[in-house]
Amino acid sequence: SGMFSYDPGFTSTASCRSEITFIDGEKGELRYRGIPIEELATGHSYLEVCHLLLEGKLPTEEELTALDLELRHRAFLPESLVKLFETMPDNAHPMSTLSAGATALSAFYYEHLKLESDEDYREMAHRIIAKMPTLAAFAYRHSLGATYIYPDIDRSFTENFLYMLRAYPGGKLHRDPSGPREIKPIEVQALDTIFTLHADHEQNASTTVVRSVASTGAHPYVAIASGIAALWGRAHGGANESVIEQLRMIGSVENVDKFIARAKDPKDPFRLMGFGHRVYKNFDPRARILKTLQDQLVEELDLDTELMRIARRIEEIALSDEYFIKRKLYPNIDFYSGIILTALGLPRSMFTPVFVIGRTVGWVAQWIEFRKSPEAKIARPRQLYIGK
Ligand code: CMC
Repeated sequence: SGMFSYDPGFTSTASCRSEITFIDGEKGELRYRGIPIEELATGHSYLEVCHLLLEGKLPTEEELTALDLELRHRAFLPESLVKLFETMPDNAHPMSTLSAGATALSAFYYEHLKLESDEDYREMAHRIIAKMPTLAAFAYRHSLGATYIYPDIDRSFTENFLYMLRAYPGGKLHRDPSGPREIKPIEVQALDTIFTLHADHEQNASTTVVRSVASTGAHPYVAIASGIAALWGRAHGGANESVIEQLRMIGSVENVDKFIARAKDPKDPFRLMGFGHRVYKNFDPRARILKTLQDQLVEELDLDTELMRIARRIEEIALSDEYFIKRKLYPNIDFYSGIILTALGLPRSMFTPVFVIGRTVGWVAQWIEFRKSPEAKIARPRQLYIGK
C-alpha cells in the first residue's frame, strides 16, 4: 500500500519532538539539555545531571542540597513491598525482581496516575529515582539469600547503593578483601560517572517503550517497568552482562582471532557484544569516556587486567578489520562498563540493573515531556498486511 511508509526498526522515523537529549551519530556527539556529555561526566555529579534532565538546567547549590536530601529520604521502600522479594526464587535474575518491584510501586503510589501541578510531577519523579537503587540492591541481596540492608540516611545516592550491596546487618563494612569492603571515594566517583553516562539517550528502544506506554495513559511506574523489560535484552542494556560473559568465554588473547572470525561469518549468529550502535557510526562518546576511566582506575582499583588484555586485542583487530570498518562497528558503552563494575565488586547479573538505576531519570524525564506535550498521541503504528 502506498498509504504508509514502511520502516521496520524505525531507522528513519522520528517519533516525537524532544528537547532533552541530542545525539549526532556521525560526529559522535552526545548532549543532555545542550551540555556535552564529556563536560557532565568529568565536571558534574550524577545528581546534578538528574536535576539537569528533569528541570532543564543544572541546579544551584541549594537546589542540589535539596534534591540530595529528598532522594535520601525517599530511598526507603514501603515495608510490605519487601515481601515481594520473598516470592522470587533464590536464583531469580535481579532484572526480573527489579521490573516486578517497579510495577508494584504503581500499586503503592497509585495517586501518581493523576498528576496536576509541577510539584506532583516532581514527587512522582523523585520517588522512583530514589527507590530504584534500593529495589536493585534488595533484588541482589535476595538472590544471595542475604539480609536486606536498608538505605542509610547519612549516605548520598551513589554511595548508598554500594553500601546496600556490601554491608553486613547493622550496617558494618569490612576490610577483608574476600568479603564486603569499605567504600572508597574513588569507587563512588566511578559509579557516579557510570550513572551519568547512562542517564539518557533520546529515543532508544526502552525509552520508546516508556513513551508508548505513556501514550495510553497508564501509570508512570508501569511505563518505567516496561522500560526495564525492554532494556534487559542483549541488543540493548543486557549487552553489558553479555560482554563480560563473552570475554570470559574467549578466555585468552590467543583465542580472539577465532571469535572475530565467527563474528564475521554470516552463517554464524555470534555477534561481538559491546560492538555496534544504531546511531553512532564513528565512535560512542560514552565508550571513550569509560575507556579513559578504566585506564585511570587500573592503578587504584583491582581491575581484571587479563580481561582488559582480551578486550584491547578485540578492539585492535576489529578497528582495523574491513568487516567492522565497512559496517561502522565500534565499541559501545557496554564494552567498557563491565570491567569497571566487576572491580567495584558487582556480579555480572547486577550490570543491567546499574544501567536501570542510571537510566530511570531519563525515562521519567521523557515520560513527563511526553505527557506535557500538546502533540502527545497514542502510539499506534500501521502495518503492511501480507497474510491471507
Ligand atoms: N558483531 C558482529 N556484527 C555485527 C555487530 C556485532 N556486534 N553488530 C552489527 N553487526 C553487523 C550485522 O550483522 C549487519 O551485517 P550485514 O549488513 O552483513 O548483515 C550490520 O553489522 C548491521 O547490523 P544491524 O543489526 O542491522 O544494526 P542495528 O543498527 O540494527 O543494530 C545493535 C545495532 C546495537 C543492536 C547491534 O550492533 C548489536 O547487536 N550489537 C551487539 C549488542 C550490543 O552491544 N548492544 C549495545 C548497544 S549500546 C547501548 C545499549 O546498551 O543499548
